[in-house]
Amino acid sequence: MDSLAAVDWTAYETQATAAIGAALADSELEDARVHWLGRKSELALALRGVRDKESGMLLNGIRGRLEEAVQHREQELRRLAYQHAAERGVDVTIPGTPVKRGRLHLLTQIRREIEDIFLGLGYEVWDGAEVSTVWENFDALNTDAGHPSRSTLDTFYLDDDTILRTQTSPDQIRAMMTRKPPIYMVSPGRVYRRDTPDATHSPTFQQVECLAVDRGITLADLRGTVLQYFRLLFGPEREVRMRTSYFPFTEPSVEFDVTCFLCDGAGCAVCKHSGWIEMGGAGWVDPDVFRNVDLDPEEWQGFAFGFGIERIAMLRHGLPDLRAFWENDIRVLEQF
Ligand code: PHE
Repeated sequence: MDSLAAVDWTAYETQATAAIGAALADSELEDARVHWLGRKSELALALRGVRDKESGMLLNGIRGRLEEAVQHREQELRRLAYQHAAERGVDVTIPGTPVKRGRLHLLTQIRREIEDIFLGLGYEVWDGAEVSTVWENFDALNTDAGHPSRSTLDTFYLDDDTILRTQTSPDQIRAMMTRKPPIYMVSPGRVYRRDTPDATHSPTFQQVECLAVDRGITLADLRGTVLQYFRLLFGPEREVRMRTSYFPFTEPSVEFDVTCFLCDGAGCAVCKHSGWIEMGGAGWVDPDVFRNVDLDPEEWQGFAFGFGIERIAMLRHGLPDLRAFWENDIRVLEQF
């Protein structure tokens, strides 16, 4: 037993224990372990050459105690790290504060739902511009010069010719000026009107515009498209009804109602006991609008509608006050 005889094992153990206990970091501890206990350490080599029981017991005893010392030091180092962190004011043993997960705003969820419905119907989704020319928002849409909605009391003017759009309908004009028919597009987005905010009015809200221009389109296509839209949004039992209305850029003009999705038409508080809910304006594209964008009304027909988006959210969730959408109170928004 050369190796056994050549080494003072008591001194070996003392030195190894001291080195392990003196390690100040995990890397130093690992170095000490490799040096005193590793595969090429004097201890490992000696153990490999052991032939008698006595030496084996001696060396295995040393190995066991040194391994324990390593484990012990490892725990101590971890405790020291915690202690240092605590001294700097960080108690790493305290469970972390749960991080709240973000979510999409209710209006964004509904807007995406609407986009999906129309993508499924083969429509193109547009991201229209909120800044519009007076021509796109009014003149091209047949709104005459004296119309009250043009007033600076109703509309936000950026300069004489530029405004924040009061409706998504100018996107109809842009679509027809930049695309060749057939056109099937929807354009959801914000619009602006100089209204004083209250429970049902806001200086900004969202609409979704829809425009279809093709040959041989009929009013039945408008009705069918709107019916499909409301059924996908509010359930398969919906029925729609058209009431005559007036918009300068559609002829004939209608307003759409849908059977109440809460009471199925029986009458309840949401539909004000009428069984119907008003959804917004629509109509047949006026021939003059086609002429304004250089399309031949003899060749092309089209329908358009513009429906509010906030209204859908309010009806669906029974929200009484429009302002909740813009106040961004997390306690309200995180419910959806
Ligand atoms: N732009 C109209 C509004 O804001 C709605 C509408 C759109 C009507 C398209 C007819 C056709 O009230």
